[in-house]
Amino acid sequence: MLVARSVEELREALASLDSSKGKEGGLVPTMGALHEGHGALMRVARQSTAWVAATIFVNPLQFNRLDDLARYPRREEEDFRLLQEHGVDLVFAPNPEAVFPHDWAAPDLDLNGLDLPWEGAFRPGHFKGVATVVSRLLDLIPCTYLYMGLKDYQQCLVVERLLHLRKAMLGLPGPAMVQVPTVRDADGLALSSRNLLLVPDQLARAKGIARTWSWMKAHGQGLEPEVLIERALERLTAEGLRNEYLALVRDGSLDPWKRGDGAPRALYAGWLDEVRLIDNESLPIP
Ligand code: PAF
Repeated sequence: MLVARSVEELREALASLDSSKGKEGGLVPTMGALHEGHGALMRVARQSTAWVAATIFVNPLQFNRLDDLARYPRREEEDFRLLQEHGVDLVFAPNPEAVFPHDWAAPDLDLNGLDLPWEGAFRPGHFKGVATVVSRLLDLIPCTYLYMGLKDYQQCLVVERLLHLRKAMLGLPGPAMVQVPTVRDADGLALSSRNLLLVPDQLARAKGIARTWSWMKAHGQGLEPEVLIERALERLTAEGLRNEYLALVRDGSLDPWKRGDGAPRALYAGWLDEVRLIDNESLPIP
């Protein structure tokens, strides 16, 4: 596996992949603290393209709280091992100055309002930060496919918009986005880098999110959306979570869900003590 820390090393590594493996490659952008959710992205990538690059970069622009940025788990050695095991060809693990040099100007990205509700309302500026770094990484690592986890549903919509903007307005050849389903543990807990911050008692409570999805699937059929949300929030509170939001949206969008729209997607964010968790699930209750 090639390792690049600087933009110069990255260019060299990409040129070598280009000549040894071919032009078609894929990018798995990550912030490290990798787990089997990322493993799934790498597996799908490995099966679908000639070379796979991953990035490990804890992007300061997408953190609206300094304490959250400081606490974000970092464990490069284990990450490199997992990347290697999954046959990743190149890892770009730069420091912030390599990604955002002083003479670099952030693009003005109109995210069409997708950055504003739900995650965006509770983490102002978060999605602008995500779109900015993904755009920059795509400038640095031109690729055919971009692999994103559905665990970050709203992020997928924002990045889809970014790819549209880059193609339609800036005329840049864009990668196609490949969305990879969320990986869950045996109890339904969505794998997340932030789970590393949870002690056993908190982990047990985090599984309350999956229990609530099961309850919503079993009881959602006959309930009005507002009532379903209210009852589910009560359950999440009883599970020991401090809720930020629970929303039902039309799948593939952020539009509020109403009956007749097909199976809704439920979006959730909440806190377990000082750790913030998000999850989403499709509910078969059309
Ligand atoms: O999902 C993440 O890990 C990050 O938001 C991403 C896409 C790597 C951008 O920093």
